[in-house]
Amino acid sequence: MNALSQLAAAISLATLLPFTAQAAESKGSVEVVHWWTSGGEKAAVDVLKAQVEKDGFTWKDGAVAGGGGATAMTVLKSRTVAGNPPGVAQIKGPDIQDWGSMGLLSTDTLKDVAKQEKWDELLDKKVSDAVKYDGEYVAVPVNIHRVNWLWVNPQVLEKAGVAKAPTSLEEFYAAADKLKAAGFIALAHGGQPWQDSTVFENLVLSVMGPQGYEQAFVKLDDKALTGPEMVKSFTELKKVATYMDPNRAGRDWNIAAADVINGKAGMQIMGDWAKSEWTAAKKVAGKDYQCVPFPGTEKAFTYNVDSLAIFKLNADRTGDIAAQQDLAKVALGEEFQKVFSINKGSIPVRKDMLASMDKHGFDSCAQASARDFLADGGNGGLQPSMAHNMATSLAVQGAIFDVVTNYINDPNADPAQAAKRLASAIKAAR
Ligand code: BGC
Repeated sequence: MNALSQLAAAISLATLLPFTAQAAESKGSVEVVHWWTSGGEKAAVDVLKAQVEKDGFTWKDGAVAGGGGATAMTVLKSRTVAGNPPGVAQIKGPDIQDWGSMGLLSTDTLKDVAKQEKWDELLDKKVSDAVKYDGEYVAVPVNIHRVNWLWVNPQVLEKAGVAKAPTSLEEFYAAADKLKAAGFIALAHGGQPWQDSTVFENLVLSVMGPQGYEQAFVKLDDKALTGPEMVKSFTELKKVATYMDPNRAGRDWNIAAADVINGKAGMQIMGDWAKSEWTAAKKVAGKDYQCVPFPGTEKAFTYNVDSLAIFKLNADRTGDIAAQQDLAKVALGEEFQKVFSINKGSIPVRKDMLASMDKHGFDSCAQASARDFLADGGNGGLQPSMAHNMATSLAVQGAIFDVVTNYINDPNADPAQAAKRLASAIKAAR
């Protein structure tokens, strides 16, 4: 073979090989932008990836690190502006409507899957409304997280002479004082805006009750935002902050969780994705750790529904559209709902499973969560989480985050002034 025909043979092989390999391997591909990057979160998302791949599709992982998802949202926006959105992205709450109104999400892709799989029957109306745009599903909800939890290491509490997990703010401060005196970090925390606001929304829920919380963070009512109970919530936030690790600046939530797991700290205020870290560390709920509703919020449930939005693709990308449909079908399937939530720390989004949690092997925290979700749905206690994009637009949420984080870090901050700032920042962002 002369040099020229050698080159021709090499070129034809090179063009043939990837083609045949790809044709045999994949029916289409789906890129998923999400922020599930901690050890426990990754174990959960790997369940979805494995099933989509088993069904013959290629999974392109679009993970963007950063708890709460602010960085992932920035990446998603800039990719979309550049004309390169992924097929699927983790988008939640009212933000779904914004993406839908820009014409970026598909109102067609999920039509048949939702009908065949009876999504309208499977899902609570609050949930299905949130993932529909213009009456059609544009996202698939994968789980329900509860945000008003306190995570407790009972061994640490015992060493500090605390008899039981606190159920009121007074008990919380008393326990924290003992933990501090015994040389532990009383409250593990990462100083990031979304974590600061996660603590703050729990305090608002505790001080103002679910109805007050709703007035403030859902209705954005001026009176509720500046009233005495909001001022009290800010006052409590300053007090709670005195129990946080002084080296908390910028710390990720899962690093804070590890401090509680490893016995350096006694407690953490965090949604139940924190449980994913305990599960990954092979710890058992009710034995190695306890989950209790954040003190003063046992009659409430702040919900946070993770959902995967489906982007509009050109009609000729039939394989990739089939991949989106496969992912959506898998995500609401019974087996996935079970294994994903067990790894993720959440509860399923399917009503039939919420009503039969013990049958599916969920632990005591998840069972309590499902019970409270169902009960609080009927008594006004079920409220969308502000800090986790379920209650307001991202613009309003960003305004709240700024006020809360500035307040927590300002040694001279005044609670009454902070409440006023909160109201005016929200007004400007609306
Ligand atoms: C998401 C969770 C995630 C957590 C930490 C929340 O906003 O809903 O799925 O585990 O942030 O990143």
